Order: sequence, then C-alpha cells, then structure tokens
Amino acid sequence: MAQPRVFITRRIFPEAVAFLRQSFDVDYEDSDDVLGAEQIAARAAGAQGIICHISHRFDASLIEKLTTVKVIANVAVGYDAIDVKAANKAGIVVTNTPDVLSETSADLAFALLLAAARRIVEAHHFVHSGAWKNWTVDLLAGQDIHGRTLGIVGAGRIGQAVARRGRGFNMQVLYHNSRRLPEAIERELGLTLVSKEELLRESDFVSLNMPLRPETRHFMGAAEFALMKPNAILVNTARGPVVDENAMVEALEKRIIAGAGLDVFENEPKVHPKLLQLDNVVLAPHIASSSVATRRRMSMMAAENVAAVLRGLPPLNPVTVS
Ligand code: GLV
Repeated sequence: MAQPRVFITRRIFPEAVAFLRQSFDVDYEDSDDVLGAEQIAARAAGAQGIICHISHRFDASLIEKLTTVKVIANVAVGYDAIDVKAANKAGIVVTNTPDVLSETSADLAFALLLAAARRIVEAHHFVHSGAWKNWTVDLLAGQDIHGRTLGIVGAGRIGQAVARRGRGFNMQVLYHNSRRLPEAIERELGLTLVSKEELLRESDFVSLNMPLRPETRHFMGAAEFALMKPNAILVNTARGPVVDENAMVEALEKRIIAGAGLDVFENEPKVHPKLLQLDNVVLAPHIASSSVATRRRMSMMAAENVAAVLRGLPPLNPVTVS
C-alpha cells in the first residue's frame, strides 16, 4: 500500500524531515520561499499531512481545496494564519507547538525590554562609529529595570514566563488577561490582576503576550498610548496587528511613550518606514522562539503531530476555536 504523503511547505530542521521520511512519502519544499495559496493547493493535492509556517495563510478558500488532507501542523504556537474553524469543519486537525517555546520567547521579550531600557543598540552603534571619546556622566543614560512596574497583557504560558523574569529583576508585576489566573499562580508569580486602563497607566514596561484574535486586534491604539507613562516602554513579541502601528509610530515620535522593543509588525516582513528612523526602538525580525534547540524541537513537534494523526492516533497538540 502506498505510504501517506506529507507536504512540508518550507524548510524545517532536518531531523524532523528524516523522522517523517521513515514512514511517509515526503514532498519537501527545501527552501525559505513562501509559496502562494495556489502553489500550496497544487502541491497538497493527494497529500494527507501538511507542515506549515506562520507565513502561509490557510483561509477557508484554500482549506476547501485540501480534500485529502487530514492534518495541518503549524510550526508555531500562534495559529491566527489558519482558519481553524473551516479546517475542523472539513475534518482537518490543526496542531501547534505550545510550551516548548515559552521560555525562549520570554527570553527574547526580556532581551528587547532590557535593550530598549538600557539603549543597547544605540550604544553598540556609538562604539562602532568611533564616536566614543571619553567617560561622561550621562553617556547613553537609560532607565532602570529593577524595582519598576511591569505590565503583562496576556498571562498565558509566555506571559507567565515573562512575569517570572520580571520578578527576578525585583519588579512589581501587573497583569491583564481574558480571565483571572488561579490564586496559587498569582501568588507564586507575585502577579496582580488589573484593568487594561490601570495596567497602561501604572506600568513602566508593557509586554504584549496575547494571541491575535478579532477581539485583540489593535488592542493598542492612540487612546491606549495616551494612557501610558511618558517613560514607558512597550514590548511586543505577540503579533503585529495587536498594535495599531500608525498610532504607535506617532506615540514614539511625539515621545508620548519613551520607546519600544518589537519582534512583530503589522505587515511582516514590511516594517513601517518611520520605525526604521526612530532611535527609541529596538527591532527584531520575528525571532522570539528562535533558539536552535527550540526551533529544532518545534520542527519535531510538528512532525510528531502529523505522524500521530496519520497513524490514526490522537494529535499531541490539537487546536480548536469556539
Ligand atoms: C511564533 O510567532 C509563534 O507563534 O510560535
């Protein structure tokens, strides 16, 4: 009997490809090209499994064409690029890669927070340019992190991991979430639940860690920036569209807030041209989960999810939406 076919839409870690090749007929797009919907539909014809990245959009019209597919495994925790409802309705299981990337992603959120507060990128360019002549009393003076207030929006796995880092820096940690966390977790992490407005008014650092959903799109707009402290720094490692990028650029230009550390953008990989001109931002190209170990593990998790479904076993990390 022919082996089930798995289509891998972009480069992943080789261990995961080798694992799938042991049991399946693998069609591997061994490149970093982003295939369009028509190419995906054509290559997936006859395939039972797909491994994809967040740069591929699986909307209802593409899903409708995937008539032989039983599982779409997303090499990411966020699955806003996939119409999960349409997939589930078509009998397709969608899976993601939770947990394994939480600590790595929180590391990057904190790295951006530290870099923006202590002006690390400016300092690096300053040294490189040869402009450093002497020690001066306020040279590249930044903001303290320890003892300040950190506000976490979205206190899921990654948000909680950011909170733990904040506690390690002796920060007061506030959170705003769609639902209250169990008291034991609040106590363990020293978290205080507050309203959105209170979090924005009180925090010196705001870290966005929520999923992109219709209700979180443009969570941060002009009205929200206006509530923030002038010294505040925004860190976004969630998804670009949770922030109204034009409003953020204006807030940064007019120094309504002091700075931002950004790993995600509204129209990736396009970056708002004004963000490239501002010296109070630190920018990264959507690399929050990108440690070698974590990206390898994510690749393997996606492969294991595909293998489970195609062997008739329950998926390890299914996602559903209500
Ligand atoms: C990356 O953005 C992810 O959702 O894992």
